[in-house]
This record gives sequence, structure tokens and C-alpha cells, in this order.
Amino acid sequence: MTAFPRKLAVLLALALSAGAAGARAQSAVADGQKLAFDRGKGNCLTCHAIKGGDLPGTIGPELKDLKTKYPDRNELTAIIYDETKRNPQTMMPPFGRNRILTEQEISAIVDFLQTL
Ligand code: HEC
Repeated sequence: MTAFPRKLAVLLALALSAGAAGARAQSAVADGQKLAFDRGKGNCLTCHAIKGGDLPGTIGPELKDLKTKYPDRNELTAIIYDETKRNPQTMMPPFGRNRILTEQEISAIVDFLQTL
């Protein structure tokens, strides 16, 4: 009779940790959206239309279907970190290189972009 509750406890612990991981991923997406829309942080809307964002600019392309276009999240990270590496003429600020955003903030923004 002692084996059963232990199994149950393990299952419960597994279910809880899966739930926590899901909640963490969700909050990274929400943080990323906030950072992307924040005029004092990512300020991405100045140049990009993004679903859910107000008054976007049109200097850059609309940000959508990014998971299809860049299946590897490292590519998206690199674009935000320093787009001048891909395109020396770009208008897009090198958010990572110039320390406008931390690596953690960029990672949250990438999580958000992958939902678009
Ligand atoms: C000053 C304007 C400007 C700002 C601000 C800006 N971008 Fe960009 N972005 C561009 C331009 C222009 C391009 C087009 C590619 C290039 O210039 O190399 C681009 C391209 C991109 C791409 C590639 C899109 C594609 O379809 O290939 C992504 C992803 C991106 N930007 C994300 C962001 C994010 C996220 C932010 C905010 C943290 C941001 N950008 C802020 C101007 C900007």
C-alpha cells in the first residue's frame, strides 16, 4: 500500500513542474511583448507593425510568420542583437551590442516573436 502514494506523489510532482515550465514560457512571451512595445526599451513599433501594437511605423517590414521564416531562434536573436552583421546599412539599432536590451530581454522578445 505504500508504493501507490509514492507513485502518485511522483506523478503529481511531474505534473506540477510541467505546469510551472508552461507558466514560465507564457510569462516570457508576455514579458517579450511588453519589452517589444515599450517605447523606452525595444521600441520595435517605431519601425515594425506587430499584431496587437498601436501606431506602428513602416521603416521595417511587418513582424509576422517569423517562426516559419527563421525556424532557428538563434537567427532571430542575432537579428535583434546586431542586425548590422547581416546588413551594415540597416536602420535597426544593434540592441544587444549597444546594450539597449540584455540577453535575457532579447530572449523574451524572441519568445514573443515566435508566436507571431
Ligand atoms: C529604427 C527602425 C527599427 C527598429 C526600432 C527596429 N527595427 Fe527591426 N528592422 C528594421 C529594418 C529596416 C529591417 C529590415 C532588414 C534590415 O534593414 O536589415 C528590420 C528587420 C527586422 C527583422 C527581420 C524581419 C524579417 O521578416 O526578415 C526582425 C525579426 C526585426 N527587425 C525585429 C525587431 C525587433 C524585435 C525590434 C525591437 C526590439 C526591432 N526590430 C526594432 C528596422 C527597425
